Amino acid sequence: MRRILVTGALGQIGSELVPALREHYGADRVVASDVRIVPHQLAAGDIHEHLDCTQQQQILEVVRRHEIGAIYHLAALLSAAAEEKPHAAWKLNMDGLYNVLEVARQYRCQVFFPSSIGAFGPSTPREHTPQATVQRPTTIYGVTKVAGELLCDYYAARFGVDVRGLRLPGLISYVAPPGGGTTDYAVEMFHQALRYKHYSCFLKADARLPMMYMPDAIRATIALMDADGARLTCRNAYNVAAMSITPAELAAQIRAHVGGFAVDYRVDPVRQSIADSWPHSLDTSAARDDWGFAPQFDLAAMTADMLARLSLRISAARAK
Ligand code: SER
Repeated sequence: MRRILVTGALGQIGSELVPALREHYGADRVVASDVRIVPHQLAAGDIHEHLDCTQQQQILEVVRRHEIGAIYHLAALLSAAAEEKPHAAWKLNMDGLYNVLEVARQYRCQVFFPSSIGAFGPSTPREHTPQATVQRPTTIYGVTKVAGELLCDYYAARFGVDVRGLRLPGLISYVAPPGGGTTDYAVEMFHQALRYKHYSCFLKADARLPMMYMPDAIRATIALMDADGARLTCRNAYNVAAMSITPAELAAQIRAHVGGFAVDYRVDPVRQSIADSWPHSLDTSAARDDWGFAPQFDLAAMTADMLARLSLRISAARAK
């Protein structure tokens, strides 16, 4: 069986997807790659390549050398980081995807592409956003995600590339640190609650957004890639989410575990306007019907698990 390549392996999703793929398929079958230098010693048997996705030749060489059959293309800038550097975001998010699709076409690879709630915009219906609806985003991140979805559809229809994708909501993880996203307030809030019992939130208290706990996102990604292709009615990309929450609601849940936790609101107009252009909640029925999407964590379960695991990581880091 051919190997799996993960691009952006050191990022928000890759930090958890790579270990999950190694567990699921075997460590020798997964090649992690990133443009950043690996920050720690690799475990024996783990394969890591330095890879810049804006260079098609580099992708081609890695795919050839490791006999890659599936590419999980995670290398991208998130929404707030992209808004700071729109030119760099276009280059990485678009050129990177185009290069991956081209190599996938030539080497008959399966491709996973993470789209996002960022692919929607202010004219999209905000509640229970349908699978097929208006997509006119107002951020450069969203523009690259819509264009990416369309490019994936094109490669699937025109060249028969087996491309699959998810429109991910905000992801909450105890592994990767916050990395330039608008929904990252949620991750920051957990870190600050455990360290200082205080958080200054950059979104308004009532900024409602769809979210999901990372373990559910990882399970969904693997389930989608393992699904029977004949049953997939959407090539790009399936709406997925597990909860629809505001900073105030998350703070209240955290406070139930961390007594005295306080939040004040120092709103960042750029990130607030990004959040204002995104849906409140998503209709995930296509994902449920086509390949059995079934998230396990709601707000209460996610908060309890996140606090338990993050406290362990913080104590372990302090003990070093
Ligand atoms: N979590 C992402 C962000 O905030 C949305 O895809 O940028």
